[in-house]
Amino acid sequence: MQTKRLSESESDVKLAGEILRSGGLVAFPTETVYGLGANALDAEAVKSVYAAKGRPSDNPMIVHIANIGDLGSLVRGGRDGIGRTAAQVMEAFWPGPLTLIFPKSSAVPDATTGGLETVAIRMPSNDTAHRLISETGIPIAAPSANISGRPSPTTANDVLEDMDGKIDAVIMGENCEVGIESTVLDLTGDKPVILRPGVITPELISEIIGQEVFYDNTLLGNPDRTIDPQDQDARSSFKPKSPGIKYRHYSPKAKVILIEGTDNIFTEKVSQLEEELKEQGLKSAVLNYKDDAGKAAKNLFADLREFDRQEYDIIFIKTLEKSGLGFSVMNRMLKSAGYDIIK
Ligand code: TXA
Ligand code: MG
Repeated sequence: MQTKRLSESESDVKLAGEILRSGGLVAFPTETVYGLGANALDAEAVKSVYAAKGRPSDNPMIVHIANIGDLGSLVRGGRDGIGRTAAQVMEAFWPGPLTLIFPKSSAVPDATTGGLETVAIRMPSNDTAHRLISETGIPIAAPSANISGRPSPTTANDVLEDMDGKIDAVIMGENCEVGIESTVLDLTGDKPVILRPGVITPELISEIIGQEVFYDNTLLGNPDRTIDPQDQDARSSFKPKSPGIKYRHYSPKAKVILIEGTDNIFTEKVSQLEEELKEQGLKSAVLNYKDDAGKAAKNLFADLREFDRQEYDIIFIKTLEKSGLGFSVMNRMLKSAGYDIIK
């Protein structure tokens, strides 16, 4: 298949909309990471997304909408089925990098939700994403546009690296502003729970809804919870609320090792390890974001991919303070390192 390179022009976005309406796959920029879009109401189109990504089909997708009016038909009970807390959160953070979980209506195929009775919905703020979804006139299922297991793409070229020849088109937009995926918030239980941390932190949400917001406890970094996607037995025995979090994730080809400590300790430890590696003929790269969580979020995935292109064997990363956005980036760093951390 020849993958079309489209621009963000009106006519190209219109063409992308036609491709989506006819069941095709189009990658497009959002404020978080690039998404791989398909008609969320078309089970066959959704299945072809799993195929292009090489993604296990029990991993549910986020449905992207352009207007609040698009929500009613996707949620059980329609507009009235949306609780007060969800309405407050939507009012405060949509459009933007926050995904909400709702009980799903029968219009949403099982293929889209991986068989779950709930559906994840988000309204992106990126202008091109907004125009594309509006133009298409249907809800768009869009996982990150990477091969399953690889770091999410935050540039159009990173999308092509994984998807060229496998999908109909890519909208060649800007680099993503945020750089890590949206916060996933579940308001369907007794208390508000973050299933995937992002740039919208529990503190920000608490301020709006006036109650405490919790992290799902699988986020706090239990390595036993991360399993090999090929291991069927392990897969079926572990069912977290957000199925995506059980799989190996964000992994470059190089081995990633996190190092925790002061700047001085980091520099000392890295030069000591680099000496040893050089003797073995191994090439190592170093990432120190100096506790700038925003910069780390924006650059981490792109940096990991760049080091792979330069064929590094090992990547040393200095850890971040685990609070606010730092917690969310550390969640990705720990996964990319397979939880290998030197303290
Ligand atoms: O920022 C983003 O959210 C990006 C851009 C493209 O919008 N999309 C994205 O999609 O990250 P994906 O498929 O790579 O991640 C979706 C996450 C997974 O962790 C999945 O398990 C979770 O959302 N999820 C989806 N539907 C869910 C549901 N019904 N219940 C719980 N978790 C769900
Ligand atoms: Mg993803």
